[in-house]
Amino acid sequence: MLYNEFRPKRFSDIVGQGHITEIIRNQVVKKNVSHAYLFSGTRGTGKTTTAKVLAKAVNCLNPKDGEPCGTCEMCKKIEDGNCIDVIEMDAASKRRIEDMRNIISSLNYPTTEAKFRVIILDEVHMLTQEAVNAFLKTLEEPPQNTIFILATTDPQKLPATILSRCQRFNFRRVSIEDIYKRLKYISEKSSIKVDDKSLVLISKVSDGGMRDAVSILDQVKDLNNVSYKEVSELLGVSGNENMFKLSSYIFQRNIPASLELINYLDNQGIDFNVFIKDFMRFLRHILMSKVMGSEANSVIPMTDTDITRLSNLKVTKGEVINTIELFQKIDSKDRTSLELAVIKAGSFVGKPAEGKSNKGVENTNYNEVDFEEKVKKITFAKKQMVENFKKLPQYKALGDTFEKSKMFINKVMEIKIVPATLKEKNILEEGYTWLEKGYKQFSGISDLKIIICDNGGKC
Ligand SMILES: Nc1ncnc2c1ncn2[C@@H]1O[C@H](COP(=O)(O)OP(=O)(O)O)[C@@H](O)[C@H]1O
Ligand SMILES: [Mg+2]
Ligand SMILES: [Zn+2]
Repeated sequence: MLYNEFRPKRFSDIVGQGHITEIIRNQVVKKNVSHAYLFSGTRGTGKTTTAKVLAKAVNCLNPKDGEPCGTCEMCKKIEDGNCIDVIEMDAASKRRIEDMRNIISSLNYPTTEAKFRVIILDEVHMLTQEAVNAFLKTLEEPPQNTIFILATTDPQKLPATILSRCQRFNFRRVSIEDIYKRLKYISEKSSIKVDDKSLVLISKVSDGGMRDAVSILDQVKDLNNVSYKEVSELLGVSGNENMFKLSSYIFQRNIPASLELINYLDNQGIDFNVFIKDFMRFLRHILMSKVMGSEANSVIPMTDTDITRLSNLKVTKGEVINTIELFQKIDSKDRTSLELAVIKAGSFVGKPAEGKSNKGVENTNYNEVDFEEKVKKITFAKKQMVENFKKLPQYKALGDTFEKSKMFINKVMEIKIVPATLKEKNILEEGYTWLEKGYKQFSGISDLKIIICDNGGKC
């Protein structure tokens, strides 16, 4: 794999994180390294790589300006993963207290061959509560000559007690230009024939993640004849298809299709934590395309074809914002949360119109601006009615109930009124003619259908 082959071996090879690597390199020079670091940031931006370079730099027998030499016995051992004093633990798979105890107990012995024992805890936010607690004690009284390097994509999941004991560095998304340069370098070194335009495209769609960029190059290198067209086709089908599907279903309020897709993804073994984050970024891109129009091409890390698809999604700015806000409220990023979110999002307005296709939101045909206008008018109508009913003693109960009940409007101008209790349902049904008249009169829209739903929401 190219990304292993081209894992940077020195600080100066790590691209786009100069604000971090310079500080750490200087600490090595001044023999002033911290006993605990926290590396946070998006995946594939160089956290594990930097941790490994640091492990080498502090243990190298011939370091130069804080950089590891790469050729001494220690550098080689660490590079090959054969140094027993440098421990890498992936907390995503080893997250239990027993795993942590193994590491902690090893700290009681002096190092075997290295000057510094370096413990790299990858994806540290995945540790169980117990494991975190055990680790915290160690961090409070750090053993001599030990350096802990914690890496995580999710620092907000770590307790403040851990955060406050680490020197913290946030890894940035790598710029398109820096990714491009690196890809150019790699393709030249490994004689991959690929044109500049394709490299720029790959750099753009990787969205700041160097690992993704290098993996794409890896796929591309197997194409016989790498042309821009082929590269964009490869990118078109690989990354965003599930995102497009899910967003279409959500905007269509097609809850069953959304849930089915989630089930399919689960069977494929996707990591929901990653997927939900990516999906939220995808929603942001939709919003950008709605807000910025053709200007959006520069800020959305996708192919032009995908950006066009984004802007063709039938959804309003407001609906996208609502959906994003809803997703922001998800606190644990797992399957259940995603399911809840799509159900809630699907309940905003109502079910898709009868007889219209559920497949692909592109099929529904209505005027968005017009719809938003109508919703405003209908909302206004409800307010007017509530005020009027409440003024008249014989209609006061209807006014109160109507005010409390939920209202959903769908694209075919069906207004669904959902009461909280059966009693309230009866009150609304008695007032049906008044409600119907009122809606039409105050909104000025004549083709409205009023539906009183069950208190459970069925209608
Ligand atoms: N900043 C970077 N500069 C150069 N290559 C990088 C950088 N970040 C990631 N890579 C490439 O991606 C691979 C994975 O990077 P890694 O450090 O494991 O990412 P992280 O730990 O942040 O998820 C590396 O082997 C390397 O090929
Ligand atoms: Mg990593
Ligand atoms: Zn060395």
